[in-house]
Amino acid sequence: MPEAVNHYQDRYWNDLSEVLAYLCRRATGNPDVWWMDYLKQHYAQVPRKRALVIGCGNGWVERDLYDRGIAEHFDAFDVAEHYLEHAKSLRGERSIRYFASDFASFVPTERYDLIVNVAALHHARRLYGFLKRLAPALTDEGIFVNWDYVGPSRNQYSRPQVRQMREINRRLPPRFRTPHPLRPALKDMLTGDPTEAVHAADIVHAVGCYFDFIARRDLGGGIAYQLLWNNLVEFEKRDQDARAALATLLREDEERTARGDVPTLFSFFICKRRHSPDRVAAWHTAIREPLRESFAAATAGLYPRELPAYLLQSVAAKVRRLPG
Ligand SMILES: C[S@@+](CC[C@H](N)C(=O)[O-])C[C@H]1O[C@@H](n2cnc3c(N)ncnc32)[C@H](O)[C@@H]1O
Repeated sequence: MPEAVNHYQDRYWNDLSEVLAYLCRRATGNPDVWWMDYLKQHYAQVPRKRALVIGCGNGWVERDLYDRGIAEHFDAFDVAEHYLEHAKSLRGERSIRYFASDFASFVPTERYDLIVNVAALHHARRLYGFLKRLAPALTDEGIFVNWDYVGPSRNQYSRPQVRQMREINRRLPPRFRTPHPLRPALKDMLTGDPTEAVHAADIVHAVGCYFDFIARRDLGGGIAYQLLWNNLVEFEKRDQDARAALATLLREDEERTARGDVPTLFSFFICKRRHSPDRVAAWHTAIREPLRESFAAATAGLYPRELPAYLLQSVAAKVRRLPG
């Protein structure tokens, strides 16, 4: 990951309180109940003993979980030293131990009755290998909690999905329309943070190889997430038109996700450890994953599945630059 990457500089749909209420309703059944409070009520009335937060960033997740009494102690790691320093500076008296580690090499040395991923697993290149090493760290009573982007890898939304986003974007009054591309160019993904959503579309399957789902709530986003990405200013004015435009976006998001017209981009789920990995897990860890990573290492980061789209996007960009 380039040193300069800052995961907190962009503005996302959940910065809007209405979107937060939408996500809460989808996750917990109640627009006023945040998933952490749901977790406390249903899975941690007696605080869990020892928790692990993976890819902790600036540490807000473990601080908020600790403050709710969800676990007595937290371990948390990240690959980025500057985030760890920031998290340590905000830790206060909480029982949180920070350490540097990388999904590629992390081997747990403790066992946990709670493991939490918030928006980090979508950065894992060796996703199956990491989960294989992570799963044995969960106790039999332990739970793995996930709140993450699980949509198309590298945000390469399908044509039908982009068509629907475009249609709805055009339907909005001009001031609310996104000026950003509806599908980011692969070239830009590689030069920005090349691990962004790198194998996100595999997350649910990979988790299912090593864990059993005990609750899963898909959160949507297939329409509204990209249309709101770095496009909040007009919505934040909260005048009548802004409220109506946002309501349209969220209604379309919910209806089209429910019909299966667009994939869910985010998912909240809770898992237990599987007693034995899924039979296909070995294929992924021993063959598919090493092969695709070797391929990417030889192509400046591109995966086999991305080559056709990358070539098409490059040609299209050249054509757009032609004079006249
Ligand atoms: C989108 S941020 C989320 C951070 C935090 N969980 C949050 O919700 O604010 C993704 C985090 O994953 C971390 N990360 C990315 N690649 C990683 C890797 N290979 N190993 C460990 N952490 C990684 C990043 O440094 C960053 O802190």
